Amino acid sequence: MVFKLSAVFVTLAALASAANYKRVACPDGVNTATNEACCVFFALRDDLQEHLFDGECGEDVHESLRLTFHDAIGFSLSGALNGTGADGSMILFKDIEPNFAANDGIDDSVNALSPFLTRHNVTAGDLIQFAGAVGTTNCPGAPRLEFLAGRPNATFPASDNTVPLPQSDVTTILDRMEDAGFTAAEVIHLLASHSVARSDTLVPGHEAVPFDSTPFTFDTQVFLEVLLKGVDVPFGINNTDGAEVNSPIPESGEMRLQSDFALARDERTACEWQSMVNNQQLMMSNFASAMSKLAILGHNREDLIDCSEVVPQATPPLGKPATFPAGTTADDVEQACTETPFPALSADAGPASLIPACPDGDTDLDDCPS
Ligand code: HEM
Ligand SMILES: *[C@@H]1O[C@H](CO)[C@@H](O)[C@H](O)[C@H]1NC(C)=O
Ligand SMILES: *[C@@H]1O[C@H](CO)[C@@H](O)[C@H](O)[C@H]1NC(C)=O
Ligand SMILES: *[C@@H]1O[C@H](CO)[C@@H](O)[C@H](O)[C@H]1NC(C)=O
Ligand SMILES: *[C@@H]1O[C@H](CO)[C@@H](O)[C@H](O)[C@H]1NC(C)=O
Repeated sequence: MVFKLSAVFVTLAALASAANYKRVACPDGVNTATNEACCVFFALRDDLQEHLFDGECGEDVHESLRLTFHDAIGFSLSGALNGTGADGSMILFKDIEPNFAANDGIDDSVNALSPFLTRHNVTAGDLIQFAGAVGTTNCPGAPRLEFLAGRPNATFPASDNTVPLPQSDVTTILDRMEDAGFTAAEVIHLLASHSVARSDTLVPGHEAVPFDSTPFTFDTQVFLEVLLKGVDVPFGINNTDGAEVNSPIPESGEMRLQSDFALARDERTACEWQSMVNNQQLMMSNFASAMSKLAILGHNREDLIDCSEVVPQATPPLGKPATFPAGTTADDVEQACTETPFPALSADAGPASLIPACPDGDTDLDDCPS
């Protein structure tokens, strides 16, 4: 008995060491990988970083991250809508899906990523999720996302109405997300993505209107700033699709989505929302978990190959606690969670100022690199 048990341990140890040390040499003659199927992603990673993202957490990273969602959410457990999830259908059916209202602006990322499909032998679904994972590592504070490879190319497009609209009410949004397999809490976890987000379509005449004061940093400011009191139509206009544009700090050029505003204040989601204010580690782990689910919607985890090793190391958080943006205080918080006290935060000094347009601090969008 003793002998048998130790034999089992020896076998297990051998298996573990094989898993750790048996790597395959990639055809590029440079890299090694745990699975040959991962080899193709090394060159794709370097190409994306050099020729699209510039190693920054700029517009192309934001748009690629948004695309991971819009491609993957084309999926329905009930079968009420068509779609095979994270399947590249947004790129493969670029004459159809990008024209749906909720995909307004997505053509930028579709056009930016399509050339990589001709240069690298990967599927469209893998390209989209891989680009999102690689790009977010440029954002200080973003978790290093998992990447699994092997999504087959979509053979038909997703139907319209799989992607939630910003003017939809909370019940409509949560129902749609539930039909794709997400709990209300997971929806809020995914919305950490709006920490690195700006709208190109909602405010006529304005591009890159940020959702928080730090659109190039994956921090918790968005969870704080969406909860602040605001003024409606700070740009003097309503947007084109009926969602009013509301801002906590109009002088900064910032806006928030009506959907984020409502989710932050709804009794079903308010405490989940507030829990991430000034809790960087919680936000990071919540986002990483929810993204690992989003990225493989429509697929079985067991059918895919873990190529996470190809994703670069994450950029660490800046280590700055969340603060009330200059001009705002704790009195501006519209707290909707009644279970837990709001975290005590300090306020930035000085008057409200314009949020830079580029990662390098420049205030002119036309001067942004790339
Ligand atoms: C409740 C569901 C959601 C709604 C209603 C929503 C809506 C929007 C809207 C209207 C925009 C602005 C697009 C533009 O005008 O350019 C936007 C941007 C963005 N969204 Fe969402 N979103 C949702 C969930 C998500 C999720 C789950 C992710 C990713 C995991 C995501 C990632 C992003 C990113 C990164 C941007 C910024 C794109 C850029 O800066 O170019 N969103 N979202
Ligand atoms: C789903 O696809 C089927 C077959 O192509 C089509 O008949 C049906 O109308 C589609 N449903 C939706 C909601 O788009
Ligand atoms: C592309 O990749 C697939 C599997 O991922 C492989 O079967 C095929 O031979 C590759 N094609 C080329 C041209 O390398
Ligand atoms: C997936 O579609 C893209 C774009 O048409 C193509 O380049 C690629 O070879 C396809 N991959 C597979 C495995 O069919
Ligand atoms: C914006 O829309 C709201 C609600 O539809 C309306 O009451 C308001 O007058 C509009 N404001 C402008 C500036 O058009």
